[in-house]
Amino acid sequence: MTKALIEGIDRLTYSTDGSAENFARSKQCFIDWGLNLVHEASDELLFETLNGAQVRILPPSHAAFAGSTPMESGATLREVTWGVLGDGDLPAACTDPHGLVHHFQRSIKRPVSVQGSPSNPYGAVHRIDSPSPVYERATPVEIGHVVLFTQNLAQAVKFYEGLGFVLSDSYPGRGAFLRCSPEGGHHDVFLLQVPGKAQGLNHVAFTVRDIHEVFGGGLAMSRAGWKTQLGPGRHPISSAYFWYFECPVGGLIEYNADEDHLTENWQPREFTPGPTMFAEWAIDGGIDGHTRRQPQVAAGGQFLTEKR
Ligand SMILES: [Fe+2]
Repeated sequence: MTKALIEGIDRLTYSTDGSAENFARSKQCFIDWGLNLVHEASDELLFETLNGAQVRILPPSHAAFAGSTPMESGATLREVTWGVLGDGDLPAACTDPHGLVHHFQRSIKRPVSVQGSPSNPYGAVHRIDSPSPVYERATPVEIGHVVLFTQNLAQAVKFYEGLGFVLSDSYPGRGAFLRCSPEGGHHDVFLLQVPGKAQGLNHVAFTVRDIHEVFGGGLAMSRAGWKTQLGPGRHPISSAYFWYFECPVGGLIEYNADEDHLTENWQPREFTPGPTMFAEWAIDGGIDGHTRRQPQVAAGGQFLTEKR
């Protein structure tokens, strides 16, 4: 039998820090993030994106974690379940060099018909007699990627390449963007080795329809009181728009839209780490969901159309 094709992330399983407060706060965070809470018990939360990808949140004492050692202390990501397409053999469950457990299953994700708004760049008008949307909040379509801090990049890359992942781009010796199949989004996993930085979860990205939903979702999270880590902004590598928020169940969560779509013809590029490679532009501290301006800007400014 041939090896089955890993298509993307079906499920992420997090452990809380063990406290009831962290469990409750994580629940509220993902509700505000725009996921659908489909199951709730005293020791389990299960959320879905629009396409049926899942976020599962459990206390660290849950039987699901028996025998596994977390990547880091406190609340963090414990498992990634990859969706697999085709009839080929499923890879066996395994643990990466950081302690993150990987499972594989026939993908449970369902097709969705949502689409981002077409753009009207010069010379390629795709939106006619139709305004582009303004979102009141985001409803993420799918889970995009996972980013880990590693202390041994070469070993980590070897592990993921062993599962069939291919290199999309890299910071040699410092970071590797990997996609799970030759054709697809720019990266499903990004591994980052920062001198002196311990291994662990950096962030998880949720794909939304377009840049407008990145803004709408970020503003809604801001209004709900969640703290921006960085964003909105745009990554030159992958071309994606981003907005990162702090997440009570570990690392950051990112709204992400408009990433590059690669095929087997893509040639990996090499970059030198630096601020202009991480972000073409970014707003530090986010945008206030009420004033629609940077929070550090002094109050008093009004838009011309506001009542005076
Ligand atoms: Fe990301």
